[in-house]
Amino acid sequence: MNKKNNILILPGDGIGPEVCDEAIKVLKHLNDIYKLDIVIEESAVGGSAYEEFGNPLPEDTLKAAKEADAILLGAVGGPQWDDIDYELRPERALLGLRAELDLFANLRPAILSKYLSDSSSLKPEKVQDLNLLIVRELTGGIYFGEPRGRSKSGDSAFNTMIYSKNEIARIGRIAFEAAQKRNKNLCSVDKANVLEVSVLWREVISELSEEYPDVELSHMLVDNAAMQLVRDPKQFDVIVTGNLFGDILSDIAAMLTGSIGMLPSASLNSDNKGMYEPVHGSAPDITGKELANPIAAILSVAMMLKYSFNMNEASSAIEKSIQEVLSEGYRTYDLEGSKENKLSTSEMGNKIIEKIK
Ligand code: IPM
Ligand code: MN
Repeated sequence: MNKKNNILILPGDGIGPEVCDEAIKVLKHLNDIYKLDIVIEESAVGGSAYEEFGNPLPEDTLKAAKEADAILLGAVGGPQWDDIDYELRPERALLGLRAELDLFANLRPAILSKYLSDSSSLKPEKVQDLNLLIVRELTGGIYFGEPRGRSKSGDSAFNTMIYSKNEIARIGRIAFEAAQKRNKNLCSVDKANVLEVSVLWREVISELSEEYPDVELSHMLVDNAAMQLVRDPKQFDVIVTGNLFGDILSDIAAMLTGSIGMLPSASLNSDNKGMYEPVHGSAPDITGKELANPIAAILSVAMMLKYSFNMNEASSAIEKSIQEVLSEGYRTYDLEGSKENKLSTSEMGNKIIEKIK
């Protein structure tokens, strides 16, 4: 019997289920025309899992995630869970999945479609053909460092930003290899003028660069990187950085491309097992109104097909179809464009499917 490709969908909260529905439609369509042998399962995660099972990452969900070949996650979180115990908050599910599956390499491409230059927060000439990749370390740094907590009196609280040489080197390799496949330019971002952890980061990345002589390496302080991203983003090809800095810089990069509703991401472990998710959050303000842009989720499927399954043809078919839809002027509500070309979440999903040959 052929080995099936098992994909676990974790729709989550807010607009997560809506955008996942469109991504699933696309996956099923591709499965039919390319015979991808894909089997789709679904589990609860985040706030909705907390409501149903009292746990944002139920045992069964974690088990299914470990067994799956790849995971698509919609979004987690919402204001109704803001006041619950820290350990039970929807975000803990995301952090738990990253840690349990060792998804240390987070790839966040920021690509501006040539049809969307007007949607960017920057002038069109600053962002025309923008195509950069942020490689964010995802299972270490201050997000997971120990010790962490509150002092006994409760009057102070603390976290630890810690990286080992190994953790830095393994994310560094991913970034150098990504740069080799692109424009061979890598910028490592840190705060080495203040933090010892960044001094080590810089040392390890510099040392590693000897193994990649074809890649031009530079270092930049994170405050400057934030400024450069909005001043002249096209100077970047690949950026590699730690967990917290990557969180912040990837949101800035997202905005340059017009809408956070356009950006996919991949979180991979050393076997290329991955969890794929749109960069956007759960967007409670537009939930259930058919206003969400499903493109980030659908592009996350394209990344999944490419990185976890090596199905490059099916992956490109998605990207091509999205460009075609945009070139014809169709837009979701988060994107600039004329009223008559506005599509709802499911209409956009259908349009994309219609163009996939
Ligand atoms: C992200 C999100 C998460 C993060 C939150 C929801 C825990 O902002 O994926 O960028 O900070 O990593
Ligand atoms: Mn973030």
